[in-house]
Amino acid sequence: MTDTTLILGPGALGRLLAAYLGQPYLEQQNRIALVDRKASSRPINLVTPEGETLSRLVPRIAADQAPRQPMVVHLTTKAYAAEQALAVLAEHIDPATPLVLWQNGFRVQEPLTQRWQGPVLCATTTEGAYTQGADGVVHAGHGHTFIGHLGGGYSDLAKRVAGTLGTSGLAAAPCGDIRHRLWHKLAVNAAINPLVARYRIRNGQLRDRPFRPMVAALIDEIDSIMRAESIPPPEHGWEAMIWKVVDTTSNNRASMLQDVLAGRPTERDAILGPLREAAERHGIAAPRLDALWDNSP
Ligand code: PAF
Repeated sequence: MTDTTLILGPGALGRLLAAYLGQPYLEQQNRIALVDRKASSRPINLVTPEGETLSRLVPRIAADQAPRQPMVVHLTTKAYAAEQALAVLAEHIDPATPLVLWQNGFRVQEPLTQRWQGPVLCATTTEGAYTQGADGVVHAGHGHTFIGHLGGGYSDLAKRVAGTLGTSGLAAAPCGDIRHRLWHKLAVNAAINPLVARYRIRNGQLRDRPFRPMVAALIDEIDSIMRAESIPPPEHGWEAMIWKVVDTTSNNRASMLQDVLAGRPTERDAILGPLREAAERHGIAAPRLDALWDNSP
């Protein structure tokens, strides 16, 4: 095994991880490389939440330049691009390499955990970041990341990965219930993202009419589906959790709206798909989620 950490997916999250993990003092312990379409030595420009602009020299390599045995691969693509990006890299790395999946929704986590030969951890994060230009990333707000294995295994690896992130300045903790945390994030995303993308509004506008009752109706459907799936609710209930995220991100353009505005595909399937399939499995009607699916960009 080499001491190289690979980050696969040069979007906002990938650049954020590269910029933090690639700090010079950390680089003495771990080498970092960002896997991109083409190799390049252009630095990553990070704007910190405090407004400082920093330049980080993290090599960008093409998949065929990857070391055969990386220490770990952080897969940071959008959900719809994850399997294909990994398939390209997989031709060049040891199949036993540990993976960390950072995708929104709950589409790729289960199949990749079953199919990939090495250990697979999942991450769920509230770090806020967006890309700026070809090489920049704005770290809009500090968040927190949980890391764990869907079956509760590999706790030492999860602890190590979370520890490295924490040392770099991205707060993270290992957890034994990542499956529940992924469903919680999915609930937040399903109540916010498709609506704000469809109506092209900032998150905070969901608090006003005509959107507020739409969110409330979605929360009801999500609540029934989660009960049927035996996903325990968050400490203060779904409503409290979702409205709190709306409040704390009120000025944000959610990721799905950013995708629409940039003309990219959206994560509609990864976010709404698993909930609608669960509703169908349990014979629960979910007309609001269905309507969002039909009308989502
Ligand atoms: O997808 C996003 O943008 C975020 O997960 C969230 C929480 C909806 C805030 O914008």
